[in-house]
Amino acid sequence: MMLIQDIIAKKKVGGRLSREEIDFFVDGIVSGEIPDYQAAALLMAVWIKGMDVRETVDLTLSMAESGDMLDLSEIPGIKLDKHSTGGVADTTTLILAPLVSALGYPVAKLSGRGLGHTGGTLDKLESIPGMRVDLTKRQFIEQVKDIGIAVSGQTADIAPADRILYALRDVTSTTDNISLMASSIMSKKLASGSDAIVLDVKTGRGAFLPDVESSVELARLMVDIGRASGRRMAAVVTDMDQPLGTAIGNAIEVIEAAETLKDPKPSRLLDIVLHLAILMIRCAGDGRDGALIEEDLMKALRSGAALDRLALMVSRQGGDASYIEDTSRFELAGIVREAIAQECGWVKGIDALELGKASVTIGAGRKRKGDPVDFGVGISIRKHVGDRVEAGEAYATIYARSDACAASALMSCEKAYSFSPERADSLPLVYETIE
Ligand code: URA
Ligand code: CA
Repeated sequence: MMLIQDIIAKKKVGGRLSREEIDFFVDGIVSGEIPDYQAAALLMAVWIKGMDVRETVDLTLSMAESGDMLDLSEIPGIKLDKHSTGGVADTTTLILAPLVSALGYPVAKLSGRGLGHTGGTLDKLESIPGMRVDLTKRQFIEQVKDIGIAVSGQTADIAPADRILYALRDVTSTTDNISLMASSIMSKKLASGSDAIVLDVKTGRGAFLPDVESSVELARLMVDIGRASGRRMAAVVTDMDQPLGTAIGNAIEVIEAAETLKDPKPSRLLDIVLHLAILMIRCAGDGRDGALIEEDLMKALRSGAALDRLALMVSRQGGDASYIEDTSRFELAGIVREAIAQECGWVKGIDALELGKASVTIGAGRKRKGDPVDFGVGISIRKHVGDRVEAGEAYATIYARSDACAASALMSCEKAYSFSPERADSLPLVYETIE
């Protein structure tokens, strides 16, 4: 007969937990037999003492098996998924998923909502009137079979242990542990049934892990976990020291995604999209050089095929696709304020965490679990690190619902941006690629 207090006691002094002990814990939190306070005590012991690779793999599998394991085998081909650990101004999925799908690869993606200061694909999609992101398992599979793409929320039955642990970690300062993050992310990915998974691990102030070394360690660990479960894996570690794209919010990020699909001008966002798309396609078995695959990707963008794929997915999921074709139909919040540079110079840094938090404060994210989000508010990033600014020029624009919100977001922008009278270098974008 196992006792949870013995398992906590073992981890407290740095012992290694067996698969049986890990299963006992995971089964206990899902059934409700283990209360939150004991689960939280074990999480903190894990945070302090760590878990080795074997324990982390066991925890991941135990959590993945705590609910449904989606079976996508009736969809022909290698099913591709992509996951980001969470960023700011990161609308990558809304460009990448239709782009890869337009080249004929089935994309079956279960996405999340905003978490902390980071945005979530489901919230962004819901800013399109009528859009549904709560497909049933059957609808999800049928849609990928019919049109080659679906982006939906995970059903309650995918990795229920993670939902419970995530909520506890969020409020017990135990989010930023590599084993806990890897098992959280990979349990959901393994349960969602894709054959190939490409991970975008964010690093920097706007990410959950601030330093490159621990981000690379997390990426390697997740790749190893996926491969041990027979999945094709690749990962990148990318910069989140500054916002990635030019939009933070919901409708405003859908606009950026649709406009990028229409007119793929060079940008950091497009660079990441292309880099991830190449990794996904190579994972699916296309062994060609990345540069050749990129030519196909640019063709799918320039021909409008990728944009059409997004519009098709939106209408299939009940959304009004005319918003994708004509993004001026989205109504952004009416109180508009610009952050203006006092002197000329160069942008030296942009604190992505500060801007992510500011977007939550004005309503683009949730302050409490279950809060509604305001789709129309947001921040437009007009200058990135390394860009030249003139005195009097706007470097950010705020869309808010009240003067008070606009004023507070304006202060955040002023705090987040730092300038230099000398030319400042742009930041690296991709720190590591694991293939
Ligand atoms: N995203 C997750 O799903 N889990 C984590 O632990 C961190 C980011
Ligand atoms: Ca079990």
